[in-house]
Amino acid sequence: GKDGYRHYMEKELHEHPLVIGQTLQRMIDPATRKVVLPDLPFDLATVPRAVITACGSAFYAGMVGRYWLEEIARLPVDIDVASEMRYRDPPLSAGSLGLLISQSGETADTLAALRSLREKAIHILSVLNVEHSTMARESDVMLGTVAGPEISVASTKAFTAQLTVLACLTIATARARGTLDPIGEEELVAALMDLPSRAAEVFNQGNAIRQMATIVAEARDVLYLGRGSMFPVAMEGALKLKEISYIHAEAYAAGEMKHGPISLIDRTVPIVASVPSTPLFDKTLSNLQEAKARGGRLLVFTDTQGADRVSAIAEQIVVLPRVHDFVAPILQTIPVQMLAYEVAVLKGTDVDQPRNLAKSVTVE
Ligand code: F6R
Repeated sequence: GKDGYRHYMEKELHEHPLVIGQTLQRMIDPATRKVVLPDLPFDLATVPRAVITACGSAFYAGMVGRYWLEEIARLPVDIDVASEMRYRDPPLSAGSLGLLISQSGETADTLAALRSLREKAIHILSVLNVEHSTMARESDVMLGTVAGPEISVASTKAFTAQLTVLACLTIATARARGTLDPIGEEELVAALMDLPSRAAEVFNQGNAIRQMATIVAEARDVLYLGRGSMFPVAMEGALKLKEISYIHAEAYAAGEMKHGPISLIDRTVPIVASVPSTPLFDKTLSNLQEAKARGGRLLVFTDTQGADRVSAIAEQIVVLPRVHDFVAPILQTIPVQMLAYEVAVLKGTDVDQPRNLAKSVTVE
C-alpha cells in the first residue's frame, strides 16, 4: 500500500534516505569502513576504459558516474544512451568494461546494448535493482541497488541507489588504480555514510518546494541548469517534470545557455538551477546572473553555504544541507524529483501512471 502517502511516487521519494543507507550497507564493510565489491572476473586496475550505457534516468545516473570515474579514478569513460550505443558501434579494445545501469534489468534497448558489447569481448558489470532479471543473468557481475520494488512509473529511489552504487564503484576503482589513498577513501566513505541523515533533512524543505511548484505549474516551458555532476541532476529534474506534469522542460549545462537557449529567456520560462557550493558554484552563479539580467525567474536549489549569495538573485530558494562535493549530486536529486511531484499534484495528473508510459520498456 501507499502507507498514507498520496501516491506511490511520494512514498518512494520518502524512501530515499533508507534506500541509500541499505545500498551502502551492501557495499561498505562496517568494521573497516572500506568499499567491498564482489569477486570480479577482471581487474579494475587494468581495464583500459569503461563504456557506460543505459536509458532515461538510469542514463543520467551513468553521466554522474562518468564524472566520478574520470575525476577520481582517472578511468577514461565513454557514455551513450543504449539505443544509440548499439548502432554507433564504437571501437573498443577487448577487456574494456561495459557498465550497464537499469532499474528493471529488462529494458530492451539496454539489453540489446549489453548483448552487442558482450560480442566484442567486453566485460559486463550491471547495476540493477531487480536481481533476478534478464540483464542479471547475462552479466559477468551484478551490483545490486537495494531500493526495493519501485511502483511509480517515474523512477525516484532507484536513481539515488544507482548513484550510491556508482559512488562505491568509483572508490573501489580509484583504490585499484592507485588514484585514491586510504585517507582519501576514508573521507569519501564518511561522506557517503553521512548521506542518509542529510537526505532525511531534505524533507524539511517541503513547504519551500511546494511554493516553487506553484510557479512551475503555471509555466509552459521550464529550463533546468547545472554544471559538472549537477548537469545530469538538471536532466533528471527536467525528465521527471515532463513525464508526470506534461510541462515541457529542457536541461542545459549552465555554461551552454549563452550559446543559444538564452534567447528563450523571459518571465514566462522559469529557470530551475541546482547550485550547491562546490568549486563550480561561482561559474554557475555568473550564468544565473546572465539569465536574471534578461528577465529570467530563478528557482534555485543550493545549500546552507551558497544560500546568501544566491538569495540576492533568486525568486525562490530551497536551502539543502551542506554535504561533501562528492555526494552533492545524490542529495540534490531528491528536491528536483520532489518538485516534479508537487507540480504534477497541482496539475492533477495521474502521477503514478503517466500517460503513454510503462514501468518497463520491453520494445526497442
Ligand atoms: C524515468 C524513467 C525511465 C527509466 C528508463 C530506464 O523516470 O522511469 O526513463 O529510467 O526507461 O528503465 P530501467 O532503469 O528499468 O532500464
